[in-house]
Amino acid sequence: MKTPTARVDKLLGSLGYGSRQEMARMGKAGGIELDGVEITDVSKRIAVTPNLPERMTVDGRPLDPPQGIVILLNKPLGMTCSHKEDGALVYDVLPSRWRRRDPAISTIGRLDKETSGLLLMTDDGDLLHRVISPKKHVAKVYRARLARPLAGNEVALFASGELMLEGDDRPLKPAELEVLSPTEARLSVTEGRYHMVRRMFAAVGNHVEALHRERLGGLALPAELAPGDWRLLTPAEIDQIFA
Ligand code: URA
Repeated sequence: MKTPTARVDKLLGSLGYGSRQEMARMGKAGGIELDGVEITDVSKRIAVTPNLPERMTVDGRPLDPPQGIVILLNKPLGMTCSHKEDGALVYDVLPSRWRRRDPAISTIGRLDKETSGLLLMTDDGDLLHRVISPKKHVAKVYRARLARPLAGNEVALFASGELMLEGDDRPLKPAELEVLSPTEARLSVTEGRYHMVRRMFAAVGNHVEALHRERLGGLALPAELAPGDWRLLTPAEIDQIFA
């Protein structure tokens, strides 16, 4: 594939560093370097390679990663997956400049405010659609703590492909339930309907007290990533989602 190129001022603008005028001023002042050489004319086109952050500095610091990032967040309780609601948002954990990136960073699917665990964010629209597309069958695996003991029929009911959720017009695709204790279960689903896990347990007369996403496809939430912590996924980890 051909390496994309971009004007330095446009590239930096798309990464949230500032307007063309601000980038022109920064360039003239010697604040932008590629391979140790100042770029004073920010209209210059450069190749946008994934290793640019190792070769380019802005104000003495490595360039932010160019477009095509996937962020893995261990979402803590109490944060909302939204760009505009009041209160704590998942995007607040990222550097503030990243809020001004174009294309914007969005969550890949959503977790409720009171759900914790594995959440991905990306600026790659194609990847986002591949992960959430029902055709790709990417499993989402949750651990749920329930208010009441399981009745015993839930495994078969969830696997049946016949469970109807209140307000929906078609049954759920088969889902896999693993009983861990009378009030704890691991649930693997391939759809992404609104409040789906909570509504599934409500449909069998139970109530989810705590919900945590452990896994997305072949990618597990790493044990060392504390709630609220995030990091970029490597290309191999991105492939793991579809493994
Ligand atoms: N199902 C839910 O009910 N909530 C989530 O956050 C994710 C799946």
